[in-house]
Amino acid sequence: MSQTRPRNFTLLCFCLLPLLFPCIAIQQNDNTKIKGMFVFGSSLVDNGNNNFLPNSMAKVNYFPYGVDFPLGPSGRFTNGKNVIDLLGLKLNLPDYIPPFSDPSTNGSKIVNGVNFASGGSGILDDTGALAGNVISLNQQIRNFEEYTLPELEIQLENKSKEILPQFLFLVGTGGNDYSLNYFMGLSNSNTSIEDFTANLITALAHHLMRLYNLGASKFVLMGINPNGCSPMAKARVPTQEGCIRTLNRAAHMFNANLRNLVDAIRPQMPGSNLVFVNSYKVIMDIIRHPISRGFVDVKNACCEVSKISEGGNGILCKRGGSICENRSEYVFFDGLHPTEAVNVVIANKAFASKFKTEVYPFSIYDLSKI
Ligand SMILES: *[C@@H]1O[C@H](CO)[C@@H](O)[C@H](O)[C@H]1NC(C)=O
Ligand SMILES: *[C@@H]1O[C@H](CO)[C@@H](O)[C@H](O)[C@H]1NC(C)=O
Ligand SMILES: *[C@@H]1O[C@H](CO)[C@@H](O)[C@H](O)[C@H]1NC(C)=O
Ligand SMILES: *[C@@H]1O[C@H](CO)[C@@H](O)[C@H](O)[C@H]1NC(C)=O
Repeated sequence: MSQTRPRNFTLLCFCLLPLLFPCIAIQQNDNTKIKGMFVFGSSLVDNGNNNFLPNSMAKVNYFPYGVDFPLGPSGRFTNGKNVIDLLGLKLNLPDYIPPFSDPSTNGSKIVNGVNFASGGSGILDDTGALAGNVISLNQQIRNFEEYTLPELEIQLENKSKEILPQFLFLVGTGGNDYSLNYFMGLSNSNTSIEDFTANLITALAHHLMRLYNLGASKFVLMGINPNGCSPMAKARVPTQEGCIRTLNRAAHMFNANLRNLVDAIRPQMPGSNLVFVNSYKVIMDIIRHPISRGFVDVKNACCEVSKISEGGNGILCKRGGSICENRSEYVFFDGLHPTEAVNVVIANKAFASKFKTEVYPFSIYDLSKI
């Protein structure tokens, strides 16, 4: 990859009066310092790890997933590119980040990062239980430490503490700890939502410290989505108008705590920088004002979701099922996961937003320049 491309900076202004939309700067990344990304988390950022797991129910290596992805169904939980793919393009990474579980992800293929994320997993080890076989966050970080990091040092002929500051560590997880754990009464049923959330953040902070101690210093923390607005959540509580408040309240609480963690953890991680991406706000803005953002359907899944009454889970698309004609008009591709069109908005904001309500304390672009 050429790191010395000519500077290419475009400023696009969407000044749609009378709504007075602020100008959005879209930077084509030029001389970034970022060599690659290591990705941890759940289905929102998984790019195919679960394909290689026997007995995982959170597996989407079939049509209609990937209908708009250049390589077809790949294990991404959407119709096209996910947020990681889109950020990779913005960072000018030479290729898609390979999934850790793919046996061919080794040697020179890992020099621009590896994706460890696993759909159905959460921050807590016991969150994956409902989805069958998933890779816990704990194990994801262990995989990074035990397999990828030693190989990376060999490939780049340098010590991890020298190499890792040039990589982003992106963590996108937490939604399943609520929807597939707390609200299913799996464990913690006696814990208040406040205490449960505080426990999640403490556990996540512990995982971030592990990565920091291995040499990571640039972190991107993805907030969790307004899952109370998902077709899956609404199908479970058909009597409630609009979005399911308890689920959204939990997501909102988690995100507020995660944003606070960005400030709270830095003194314990000297030399580190963290960015919180408020994907909750970005998606809610689309749901509240779809038309001005080019969306038409904010409620229904684009694909035919496998029904619980037919042995499905109410979340994933039916294998080979029908899909909506124009995916970019929909917010949700399946019962839970956003379409590529939404991912594009999230990635654009994450990369270049100037608003602290969307990226805190600054954007990924700013982080990549440090
Ligand atoms: C790396 O991948 C190649 C190609 O898939 C394979 O032949 C080789 O055995 C792998 N090496 C290790 C150490 O797993
Ligand atoms: C290791 O990385 C540091 C920091 O990027 C660099 O200054 C140094 O030259 C590298 N050493 C080798 C042997 O590549
Ligand atoms: C839940 O809390 C109540 C009151 O503190 C207690 O009596 C009960 O045994 C607890 N139940 C479980 C399952 O821990
Ligand atoms: C699909 O929807 C988008 C957003 O509403 C619209 O811009 C585009 O023209 C549509 N494409 C087709 C083929 O209808």
